[in-house]
Amino acid sequence: MAKCRVGIVGVGTFGINHLRCFRQLGYMGVAELVAAADVNEELLQERTRDFEFAPYTDYREMIAREELDAITVVTPDPLHREIAVYAANAGLHVLSEKPLDVTVEGCLDMIEAAEKASVLLMVDFHKRYDEYHVAMRQKVQAGDLGDIEYGYVHMEDRIEVPRDWFPGWAANSSPAWFLGIHFYDLTRFIMGADPVQVWATGVKKRLRDLGVDTYDSISAKVMFDNGATVAFDTSWIIPYEFEAIVNQGIRLVGTKGLLECDSQDRGTITCCEGEGMQTHNMSFLRQRFDKQGREVWQGYGMDSIADFAHNVNVLLDGGTIEDLGDFPSGYDGLQATRLAAGVHHSLETGGIVEL
Ligand SMILES: NC(=O)c1ccc[n+]([C@@H]2O[C@H](COP(=O)([O-])OP(=O)(O)OC[C@H]3O[C@@H](n4cnc5c(N)ncnc54)[C@H](O)[C@@H]3O)[C@@H](O)[C@H]2O)c1
Repeated sequence: MAKCRVGIVGVGTFGINHLRCFRQLGYMGVAELVAAADVNEELLQERTRDFEFAPYTDYREMIAREELDAITVVTPDPLHREIAVYAANAGLHVLSEKPLDVTVEGCLDMIEAAEKASVLLMVDFHKRYDEYHVAMRQKVQAGDLGDIEYGYVHMEDRIEVPRDWFPGWAANSSPAWFLGIHFYDLTRFIMGADPVQVWATGVKKRLRDLGVDTYDSISAKVMFDNGATVAFDTSWIIPYEFEAIVNQGIRLVGTKGLLECDSQDRGTITCCEGEGMQTHNMSFLRQRFDKQGREVWQGYGMDSIADFAHNVNVLLDGGTIEDLGDFPSGYDGLQATRLAAGVHHSLETGGIVEL
């Protein structure tokens, strides 16, 4: 059974989850965390104190020097394309953080590079791995709701995400690119339908006053090719005092029933001094310790990354991409980007956009 050798590009806020995932896959003999690259040398050094890997400030040098099977791309959104294409051309399998790219052309470029090199291109759409969402999909696909007529999604981050976590590139992103993209993909996944039309409105106020020139909130009404319309409300200006870093949920209504999922509050509540009342999405990430006392993380935030390693191992063992079954592919990344780009096109023109 193969054990893929992996490099990570980008070890910032979310990169730490990739480091955690491949470290613990190492404990299980599934993958080896070989190397990681980040242009921020100080951060890279900091990460080497907690994780064992060969550090590089240039991902090209990492790919040239290390015998890798695969990389994961966890850099700011606009950089996924260049890195993924470079790695695919070098014959490496690629997991890209969402969004695959911030342009339709970029996604097509990445898909083409992966196809040419016969390598796997996956997108980290981890909401597909949430057991609640999987159950929703099974019900919808079984026809329990009949024909879906309409739906509603909300995803809202606390303001520190764009203001404090990545002020350097938040202005190049938006609630649609950073948050909406998750649910654009999830809604496609659950309904098995593609978006065909979008009309969006947005507001720039709070963040612009703070010097971050991007939308506070974006509301998009999307028609899908199964006839359903779904409203997506996204924002990242929720006050720091809100009970969780993200508030999120989805509901779908069909001819025979409805489904609702509060994908933030799974019923676990804490109230500690200095933190106030907190609700927790324990399905996403939860810290555990194995029998040896080593830290291991569980949840769909890990499962999606681990699925990439399992898929790469199947390919290394002689399997084909067709053998992998269902996974968030480059095509899925393209469709989600097509919608996010359509949302922004509608914001710019004020009109309905055909996708
Ligand atoms: N799946 C999720 O739920 C989720 C959550 C947060 C972020 N993300 C995605 O993960 C990606 C990273 O987000 P983040 O919050 O960690 O951002 P971040 O800014 O905290 O980290 C990005 C890292 O990439 C590094 N970097 C920049 N250019 C590079 C290059 N050319 N080569 C190597 N490293 C480079 C930066 O120095 C930084 O350390 C984004 O695409 C974001 O949308 C996904």
